[in-house]
Amino acid sequence: CGIIACRGTTGAADYLMAGLKRLEYRGYDSAGIAVTAQDGSTAVFRTTNRVDSLQTLTNSWEGPELGDAGIGHTRWATHGGVSVANAHPHQDCNQRLSVVHNGIIENADVLRKELSRTGHGFASEVDSEVIGHLLEEAMAHSGDLRQAVDQSVHRLTGSWAFVALDTVTGRVVASAHRSPLLVAQSTEGSFFASDISALTDWVDEFRILGDGDTVELADELIWLHAGVRSPAPDPVSCPPRRQGIQPTDRVDHMAREIDEQPDAAARILDTIGDDIANGALWRSLELAPFERLRLLACGTSLNAGLVIGGAVSRFGGLAHNIVVASEAAGTIVEPGTLTIAISQSGETADVLRAVEEGPRDRPMLALVNNLHSTLARNVDAVLGCSAGAEIGVAATKTFVCQVLVGTGLILSALVEFGRLSSGDAAHLVGELRSLPDRLATATLAARAAIPGIVDEVRHASGFIFLGRGAAVPYAMEGALKLKELTYRWAEAYPAGELKHGPLALVEDGTPVIVVDNGDPRLAGNIAEVLARGGRVVTIGRAGSVVDIPLGTLSPCGPLEAVVPLQLLAFTLAAELGFDVDKPRNLAKSVTVD
Ligand code: G6P
Repeated sequence: CGIIACRGTTGAADYLMAGLKRLEYRGYDSAGIAVTAQDGSTAVFRTTNRVDSLQTLTNSWEGPELGDAGIGHTRWATHGGVSVANAHPHQDCNQRLSVVHNGIIENADVLRKELSRTGHGFASEVDSEVIGHLLEEAMAHSGDLRQAVDQSVHRLTGSWAFVALDTVTGRVVASAHRSPLLVAQSTEGSFFASDISALTDWVDEFRILGDGDTVELADELIWLHAGVRSPAPDPVSCPPRRQGIQPTDRVDHMAREIDEQPDAAARILDTIGDDIANGALWRSLELAPFERLRLLACGTSLNAGLVIGGAVSRFGGLAHNIVVASEAAGTIVEPGTLTIAISQSGETADVLRAVEEGPRDRPMLALVNNLHSTLARNVDAVLGCSAGAEIGVAATKTFVCQVLVGTGLILSALVEFGRLSSGDAAHLVGELRSLPDRLATATLAARAAIPGIVDEVRHASGFIFLGRGAAVPYAMEGALKLKELTYRWAEAYPAGELKHGPLALVEDGTPVIVVDNGDPRLAGNIAEVLARGGRVVTIGRAGSVVDIPLGTLSPCGPLEAVVPLQLLAFTLAAELGFDVDKPRNLAKSVTVD
């Protein structure tokens, strides 16, 4: 979900629309804005289509002239289906107050019942709607939006970053608790946003709301912490503006991002290649040496964690464990453990929660694509994966960059700890340096081979992905991409597991995609599939159906294989007529846990 709000901007609607377009990349299923109007009413526009449709609605507005304060939101449905009624902003009974909210109000049902008893009617199924009604109750006493916000947050449990607009006074007040929100000002006006990328066209610095902060947009920001006036925190400089990519260029960001992978890899190796072999990359983080590694992540980042964890065990003989961030609570973290939290967005609530829950006396490193993200601010050290902007909801080049930077870091640490000789490290880095070329060759090979394969498997209802050893994370990533984009079932297994259950799924024509890193045991697994009529598609070493050049030392395992796997999912989805950049039900940045 994304939030943008503004005050003191001439033509607030234009700022809100531009901000929402900047937030589109996070993924959403509905969007809306509320803007003050000259006659003291609020104009509310909402859609379950793209932000562009919202623009069409505002352009055709024939009501009173729109004012200079407003709030906007892109929603990713949690409570309540995808409908205009459930899209934000939500309003109170009198339509004086409008609210946009990120997070989850856990006691919404209780509050809703209580508010219904005192005459409040609800227009949606959404938990967020209770906030507007609570504010309405509080406003009845004080008539002051800031006080109303401050009183009402005590009634809420869960997580929130919300912004409320009072159309009568044009006041805009926000509050945050366990959900990111920031505020920024310039000659263009005053703004709230959930993500700085919404604002970088208009401001140079921003301030971050902490848990329990309530802030009112005014010429001089009014900042309260736990109800008490407090100084605003120091500002943070904005990251450079995204160049060259227009979020409105709709078609095929994903294809472009797949094509960018070789260049992104080359850029990373130019920057950190030397620092891997001499240990400087690890030293630059100023962390204490570790004896075991804990990788914490979700989704595609979790698959990158599997590769990085594999490298620390293979090359350094150190133990690692992979922790699904949403299941981190209660896991034992032994002394000497370094946690690496991996997240392209740095805003995934499951990861933030796992980091927050600690243990905080053990060091934590974040591997993120957004150095200004909440995760980056909440850990002991940060390493950028340097992928550049990624717009497609399904992660592609961020995965490749996470794997490369994360593996580079591990090799660098092992050199520094004396567990890997600098000679061996230099060999491994030499191999990494040839990865960009191999990724480029794999892209060409996949573009040639995948369309024919897609023709054969396009009617299959389910897919199995197999690998062994260092290929397993790539089988997992291939299955994840296929599910995300094509809405077909896809399961990934270490190939040895096939005979312990999944083989029952194989029948005539079942596509079984094998990431072939040359493990001789795969031949037996392939035979088991063929004997049941399955359609085997091998991806990897010479002689495979998709034959791509694999490295020999392979510090990242068969990373090159991810390109055909991405293109298989992409091509099938495109063939089936699905939006490859914006798969249904998914968001790029999931800010609820
Ligand atoms: C969402 C996205 C996935 C992503 C996951 C973790 O579910 O749809 O593509 O892998 O979040 O995101 P992160 O930003 O933490 O890497």
